[in-house]
Amino acid sequence: MGKTFAVIGDPIDHSLSPNIHSAVFRELNLDCSYIAYRIPKGELKEGIDGLKKIKIEGFNVTIPHKIEMMKYLDKIDESCSLIGAVNTVVNMDGILKGYNTDMDGFLEPFKKKKLNIVDTKVLLLGAGGAARAIVAGFAKEKAKSITIANRTLENANNLSEFSKKIGLSATGIKIEDVNNSVKDYDIIVNATSVGLKNEPSPISLEGINEKTIVYDIVYMPMNTDFIKKAKEKGAIIIFGYEMLLGQAARAFEIWHNMEAPYNAMKKALFGGF
Ligand code: ATR
Repeated sequence: MGKTFAVIGDPIDHSLSPNIHSAVFRELNLDCSYIAYRIPKGELKEGIDGLKKIKIEGFNVTIPHKIEMMKYLDKIDESCSLIGAVNTVVNMDGILKGYNTDMDGFLEPFKKKKLNIVDTKVLLLGAGGAARAIVAGFAKEKAKSITIANRTLENANNLSEFSKKIGLSATGIKIEDVNNSVKDYDIIVNATSVGLKNEPSPISLEGINEKTIVYDIVYMPMNTDFIKKAKEKGAIIIFGYEMLLGQAARAFEIWHNMEAPYNAMKKALFGGF
C-alpha cells in the first residue's frame, strides 16, 4: 500500500510543500502521496488522532502549530529540543518522533555556495519561531555575534538570552534603531513576515556593499523589496525559496532514508510560483 504524508497548519492552501514532495514522488516512482491538511488552532490533538488513524507515514508542521506540536511527540530529536519547535514528524506505528529541519534548511544555501559564517557579525530582523531556528544555526556555525532587531523589544531580548545560553554573543534592539548601522554587519537576515504582502523593506540597506550577505526567508514573492534593495547594492543574495528547499530536502531524507533530489524539488517549486 502507498505511503501518505501531509503538511498541517492553518492557513495551508498556499503551501508549496505538496508541490515539492509530490513532484519528487513522481520523479522517483515512489508509491507515496502528500496532502495539505488544514488543522485550525485549538484542534491539533483531534487532527493528530485523525492522521494516526489513516496511518500517516510522516508530516510537516507549520504555522500555528510548530511549538504546540512538541506536546504530542513521543520522541524528540536533538534539533527539535534545542529550538523548542518541530516542523517534521515521523510516525512509527503510532509513536511520533519530531525533528526540526528549519535550522539545517536555513544553513544549506551557505554550504551550497561555500559562504563563510565563522566569526561573522550578523544582523537578524525578527524574533519569532523562524528566527529562533536561525539563531541556533548561527550558534552552531560559530558566528561571532548576533544583533536581534525586532518590532517588540521584549521578544528580541528573550531571543537574545536564548542565543547567549547556546554560546552566541547577542544584543536585542528595536528594529527602528538599526538606522545606519547596517554597514557593520557581514550577514543581514530578514526573519520577520514583512514582505509577504509586498511591504517595503523593514530597514534601509544604505551602506551595505558587495561583500554583504543578504538573506530573506520570505519566499513569496521571490523578489521582496528587501531583496531588491540588496541587489541594487550588489550584495550576495540568498532567497527564501532556498531555505524552503533546504528544509524540504532534509525532511525528505528523514522520511525516505535516501538523498533528496534537489533539482527535481527546485523545478517543482518553480512550477508553483
Ligand atoms: P515565524 O514562525 O514565521 O517566525 P512569528 O513567530 O509569528 O512567525 O514571528 C513573526 C516575526 O515578524 C516577529 O518577529 C514579529 O515581530 P513581533 O515580535 O514584534 O510581533 C515580526 N513582524 C510581524 N509583522 C511585523 C511588522 N508589520 N513589522 C515588523 N515586524 C513584524
